[in-house]
Amino acid sequence: MNLLYEGKAKKVYDTGDEGQVRMEFKDSATAFNGQKRGEIAEKGIVNAALSARFFTWLSQHGISTHFIEQIDPRNLRVERLNMIGLEVVVRNSVAGSLHQRTGLPEGTALDVPILEFYYKNDALGDPLLNDDHIQLLALASPDLVARLRQQALRVNQVLRPFLLRCDLVLVDFKLEFGWNPAGDLVLGDEISPDTCRLWDSVSGERMDKDRFRRDLGGVEEAYQEVYRRVMQ
Ligand code: TMP
Repeated sequence: MNLLYEGKAKKVYDTGDEGQVRMEFKDSATAFNGQKRGEIAEKGIVNAALSARFFTWLSQHGISTHFIEQIDPRNLRVERLNMIGLEVVVRNSVAGSLHQRTGLPEGTALDVPILEFYYKNDALGDPLLNDDHIQLLALASPDLVARLRQQALRVNQVLRPFLLRCDLVLVDFKLEFGWNPAGDLVLGDEISPDTCRLWDSVSGERMDKDRFRRDLGGVEEAYQEVYRRVMQ
């Protein structure tokens, strides 16, 4: 089958059906805009299964996603989307770049979730954009920005309690949206420990890609533990 696109963590293939593609989840991992590279054993299997689980749960709660079915351990069949060139980040606590930007201590709980938009542009290192920048670049109309905000907050409202029941705190996460063949706005890409910060609700231990980004060790073990908790 035709390879349509290869990203840092996934490959996208033609399926022969105009409206659908196959997403293959790889074990390769990158950080800091591709400057750090590595492999996380079985990550593709973990992330494919978790994405399928989260997308299924979200659609059961009224949120449209591109997910159709899991084909095999590394492959999902999804709707072909015309992607919006923005990364939508939702934050429930201070971590990562919000800590770096504000100096607030990591782990500080936010009274109200914070939303951020980043420009999907590797050459520029995916910079943070404000609403005026989004208009300047014509990436999304003000109305679409409002819909993206609302959808991302709904995802947060549905995933946060689900994960907490797995003893995982959803600290922050990144979403990508696009238009499906029917012209609907739907959630795309993946939801996994690559794209979420997940902290153990008891110990506070990091159970996500920060273990790889920051060389904390126990990377595979953390991915497997999230898999075990969410899939049980
Ligand atoms: P940040 O604190 O580095 O801005 O990351 C916020 C969230 O977005 C975090 O859950 C990790 C996720 N993320 C991605 O999915 N892809 C990326 O390229 C980056 C930088 C962050």
